[in-house]
Amino acid sequence: MAKLSGARAVGIAGGEDKCRYVVETLGFDACIDYKAADWYQDLQRATPDGVDGCFENVGGVVLDATLARMNPFGRIALCGMIAGYNGEPAPLKHPALIVTQRLCVQGFIVSEHLDVWPQALRELGEWVAAQRLHYRESIAEGLDSAVDAFIGLFKGRNFGKQLVKLV
Ligand SMILES: NC(=O)c1ccc[n+]([C@@H]2O[C@H](COP(=O)([O-])OP(=O)(O)OC[C@H]3O[C@@H](n4cnc5c(N)ncnc54)[C@H](OP(=O)(O)O)[C@@H]3O)[C@@H](O)[C@H]2O)c1
Repeated sequence: MAKLSGARAVGIAGGEDKCRYVVETLGFDACIDYKAADWYQDLQRATPDGVDGCFENVGGVVLDATLARMNPFGRIALCGMIAGYNGEPAPLKHPALIVTQRLCVQGFIVSEHLDVWPQALRELGEWVAAQRLHYRESIAEGLDSAVDAFIGLFKGRNFGKQLVKLV
């Protein structure tokens, strides 16, 4: 969606396969494998002009690295912080960057925006139909597989949106 709006889009994902998919299929300009050694240098190389906007799903080291690349007056939408869902603290190393870079950081809860769901579904549906927006699903079979599928989210076992097929 960032690309469709004319931005340069850089993804961050775990592993070469996911990063290749992000660039070759999803159409991002670059994707950084946060599990690789020296990945912050890869992020620097992929964002030579810094970062203006971040849609954050992860927190932890990924958010820390992105914070360090933010341009003045950049915006961060905090959608998820999965790196901290196991209960361990995920402290930020450089929170002062929010001040010095005058960043706007705002939490985002999708269910608070039900008023624009019909419009969003229409626009997203049109993009999917026109093959301008791509998605992928990992489907686990049966309720018995739900716990395993859920735990898999924390290990990156899913490759796309994790669903559980009940019938
Ligand atoms: N705010 C809202 O309204 C809202 C609604 C739904 C979901 N969410 C949040 O959005 C985020 C994504 O949810 P989703 O259901 O679409 O899951 P998802 O992105 O399909 O799956 C989770 C992915 O997170 C990555 N991950 C797991 N542990 C990680 C860690 N410690 N550090 C870095 N990456 C890690 C793994 O990918 P890799 O293989 O790349 O590591 C995993 O495949 C979650 O944080 C979720 O809580 C927010």
